[in-house]
Amino acid sequence: MHGPIHLAVLLSGTGRTLQNIFDKIDESALDARVEVVIGSRAGAFGLERAKNRGIPTVVVEEKGCKDVKEFSDRITAHLNKHRVDLVIMAGFNCLYKIPDEYAGKVMNIHPALIPSFCGKDLWGEKVHKAVLDYGVKVSGCTVHFADNTYDNGPVILQRVVPVINGDTPDTLAERVFKEECVAYPEAIRLFQQGRLRLEGRKVCILP
Ligand code: GRF
Repeated sequence: MHGPIHLAVLLSGTGRTLQNIFDKIDESALDARVEVVIGSRAGAFGLERAKNRGIPTVVVEEKGCKDVKEFSDRITAHLNKHRVDLVIMAGFNCLYKIPDEYAGKVMNIHPALIPSFCGKDLWGEKVHKAVLDYGVKVSGCTVHFADNTYDNGPVILQRVVPVINGDTPDTLAERVFKEECVAYPEAIRLFQQGRLRLEGRKVCILP
């Protein structure tokens, strides 16, 4: 792919992940353009971050839709108004049923090592609390291709952090988020360079 990769971002919350993408673009560490940001909540602060950069935003809320198909179709209709090479889920807490035209072109990041501590109800602080309650010694983050099940698609990259005595969900989340800020841009760059090859449910990273 020559020139910037054209991204669409789906989010539900504060948009720190989106901000990290902006920061990497500004530092020339990522050759990308964010074409549109779609929020699943009208008040999501991530939408403000996008508006402040003059990026088009739109709100698609589940509550206005009769089912996940209608919700997903509305999202797809907005994506189709833009040039989109890759869709980035960035703290997006809803299920998006991915249509064929975007298969293999939607990424998600989860703040734990999939397949542990993931799934529909495990997001945000709940993930880190579950990690601490279980007593595992490492956690981390996972970037994966999204499919039509929460946190299920082929794993692209994982980064590991230690769980330290005395950690709280907040301290662990902060340690994990630092790694997320490295992992997500890296996965986007690999996609942009055409270096991610899907072999069944495995992602092979080409040299
Ligand atoms: C991150 O922990 C990420 O792994 C998960 O959502 C959190 C970021 O949300 N998918 P936000 O960018 O702060 O809204």
